Amino acid sequence: MIGFAFCGSFCTHARALAVLCALRERGEDLLPIFSPAAAGTDTRFGAAADFTAEAEEICGRRGVYTVAEAEPLGPKTPLSELIVCPCTGATMARLAAGLSDTAVTMAAKAHLRRNGRILLAPATNDAMGASLANIAALYNRKNYYFLPMLQDDPEKKPYSLVACFERLPEALGAMREGKQLLPLFREIAEKG
Ligand SMILES: Cc1cc2nc3c(=O)[nH]c(=O)nc-3n(C[C@H](O)[C@H](O)[C@H](O)COP(=O)(O)O)c2cc1C
Repeated sequence: MIGFAFCGSFCTHARALAVLCALRERGEDLLPIFSPAAAGTDTRFGAAADFTAEAEEICGRRGVYTVAEAEPLGPKTPLSELIVCPCTGATMARLAAGLSDTAVTMAAKAHLRRNGRILLAPATNDAMGASLANIAALYNRKNYYFLPMLQDDPEKKPYSLVACFERLPEALGAMREGKQLLPLFREIAEKG
């Protein structure tokens, strides 16, 4: 069973759900895991309850919402892989610092305990600002893998990076072989 963890990058939730659907259609067994922000924040991108209900419907099972519910995901109910999609700057900071204070970061800690692999799909406006040191730290850490990323709006958001969500199944396949999908940074077409 793959753990599919969602963080509070609300503008990318629809894309993450599309990837979740694609994995389900390929026959993957999936467990949704929600950060408190992802599970509890209504935004202009939608209501939290609708979002969690849709993810649970796609996976066909109730999600993991708390640190206590996530704790068994290493010792008692091991995951095959953990995907964090989308992964916020805040969650990357927690992971880099070794914090386990949300369902997502506790799931990561429990999974790493048995040397499980984790695939991160970052989406954050400060990826090349405050989060860059955390991306570097995690990229160099055992068992962490990244989705390739691109600058989604270099002119208006020069520090922003967003994962190429559509490449998640490919990145998951590579991670299962212990390989990082490359190149890490995808070029976007020049304007004009
Ligand atoms: C509408 C909205 C959109 C947001 N989008 C992002 C985002 O794309 N990336 C990000 O890192 N944080 C984003 N945030 C901030 C996170 O939700 C916030 O840092 C939260 O504490 C993250 O917690 P989590 O990582 O546990 O989910 C957004 C917040 C709001 C209200």
